[in-house]
Amino acid sequence: MKIISSVTELKEYLNKQNKSVGYVATMGALHEGHISLIKNAKRDNKLVIVSIFVNPTQFLQGEDLEKYPRKDKADIEICRLSGVDILFMPQAGELYFDDEVKIVAPNVRGYILEGATRPGHFNGVLRVVMKLLNIVKPTNAYFGKKDAQQLHLIKLMVKHYFLDVNIVEVDTLRDSDGLALSSRNIYLSREERREALKIPKSLYEASKLISSGVRSAQKIRLEMLNCLKPLDIGYVAILNRNFEPILEVELSNTVILVEAVVGETRLLDNIWL
Ligand code: PAF
Repeated sequence: MKIISSVTELKEYLNKQNKSVGYVATMGALHEGHISLIKNAKRDNKLVIVSIFVNPTQFLQGEDLEKYPRKDKADIEICRLSGVDILFMPQAGELYFDDEVKIVAPNVRGYILEGATRPGHFNGVLRVVMKLLNIVKPTNAYFGKKDAQQLHLIKLMVKHYFLDVNIVEVDTLRDSDGLALSSRNIYLSREERREALKIPKSLYEASKLISSGVRSAQKIRLEMLNCLKPLDIGYVAILNRNFEPILEVELSNTVILVEAVVGETRLLDNIWL
């Protein structure tokens, strides 16, 4: 595995290759969820590139960028063992310029749900993903369905800016207790983790209701809110796959999303129907 930190070096190396490239963008603290993205990339491509970059522009003022878990040594080992060909680990100075041209998230879909809790967060995500996709120029780029809104906005950006990359959506991985894998899970105490299980349970209850024929979004939402009590709920949203609110669940065109805070930890989960 080659570790590269310079944009110029990476571009020079990639220009000499004539292979399909699978790309996984990460902020490090790699877990099974990332390994699953890498496995998908290995399955479909000749060359696999992973980037680790804790992107400062997607943290809002007051959010503790310094506290974001950094595990470079373990991450490098995980990438090596997972068969990654190139690990790109740039410094912020390699990617960002003073007074630069910026891409911004759309007015509505960039500012609801996660974008309402963290206004401006998706500007930073899209800005860095645009840069990374332009540097790596992958054939396929892999993003998890767990960050459903991020995935949706990246797909919109690729479409609106005519980027030549195929975005592959990868299913959420769960621990054996049902909790969706996330770098933030390490912050949960044992008691908090038990409480956090109300999140996947609420989604399970929603899918049970839908399987039994219920379609009313309001009814499903109320049941989920009940199930999530007494967690500090950020949102429970039932949307179509274009991230617009719906009254009735439509099979193959619905996503149900939850954000809740457990202790100090904000957790996200969702199901795609
Ligand atoms: O999902 C993440 O880890 C980040 O938001 C991403 C896509 C790597 C951009 O920094």
